[in-house]
Amino acid sequence: MTLALTLRQHLGQNAGKDPLRLAVASAVDALATACIDIADLIGRGALAGITGQAQGRNADGDLQKDLDVRADELIRQALKSVPFAALASEEAEAPEIRDMTAPICIAFDPLDGSSNIDSNMTIGTIFSIVVTPLEGQAAFTRPGTTQLAAGFAVYGPQTSLVLTLGDGVDIFTLDRDDKTYKAVRRRVQIPVDTAEYAINASNHRHWEQPVRDFIAECLAGVDGPRSKDFNMRWIGSLVAEAYRILARGGVFLYPADAREGYTDGRLRLVYEAHPMAFIVEQAGGAASTGRERILELAPRTIHQRVPLIMGSIEKVRRVELLHTDPNAASKTAPLFGRRGLFQV
Ligand code: F6P
Ligand code: MN
Repeated sequence: MTLALTLRQHLGQNAGKDPLRLAVASAVDALATACIDIADLIGRGALAGITGQAQGRNADGDLQKDLDVRADELIRQALKSVPFAALASEEAEAPEIRDMTAPICIAFDPLDGSSNIDSNMTIGTIFSIVVTPLEGQAAFTRPGTTQLAAGFAVYGPQTSLVLTLGDGVDIFTLDRDDKTYKAVRRRVQIPVDTAEYAINASNHRHWEQPVRDFIAECLAGVDGPRSKDFNMRWIGSLVAEAYRILARGGVFLYPADAREGYTDGRLRLVYEAHPMAFIVEQAGGAASTGRERILELAPRTIHQRVPLIMGSIEKVRRVELLHTDPNAASKTAPLFGRRGLFQV
């Protein structure tokens, strides 16, 4: 039996002797190591003093749980020996600037989906590594196309690390026996079409018309313009939804909506949407706001929000068409269009 490729071997093979790639490799290794400690804490839960209770609010106004804070500390500790220029975390208002001559900047969401901690559901850690901007430019202001690597850990029944170094997507599962990550899926590809969608339907009345039109098409199933039945999932944990999409396809939507504070959706560009978009595109899928490609957006602030629609390419393109051509819904299906019988 051939031995599974370890994450370290993969990072080493990719980096060779290239200084920039070596910096990326050391950052990914450190992040992945911190994720082992975070997985241990989550696995022990109350036994390790983790309550899942809110302790206050973070810079962005989200409730901050004890594990958010611990995860942030563990990642910062692990990154101490990594040559980074700047760090941005969901849990800190401003980036930490260390040495702008270092080659990379690292952004991370220490604990994504943390509202699910107390319900023992899959949560994760997301990260994005970008090249340090030229002198005079601020860190974390360049488009997502400048990412060198992106990944996320999922703490579910298995702890797995999804990683792109810009050349496809690979998944490594933590072997709890020897605490190493081993490759379980190489060069993951998301199916181009799907019959599964994920959206928080409780926000229906606040959505814009193109999103309502798309969901109406899905709900209409075999009787609608798509002529097939759809299945719905909503976990409320971005990493878990992304992992499912990588495993079997699907489309995920967290659109803008009319609620106060949600006019740009809920998810953050720098440490949620950019890395997810990089991963999804590298796996043959697409990621969009409905109007623009996520990777082409340049952040103005580190906690900026963005609508995120990602997954199987055909469905993402369909949502984009509904945004850019207001008549697309009625053109393709008079019965299900805005002026149709099944107006939603
Ligand atoms: O980080 C934000 C997050 O927890 C994501 O993991 C998840 O997709 C989203 O919020 C869920 O938001 P809501 O509670 O509005 O459905
Ligand atoms: Mn998050």
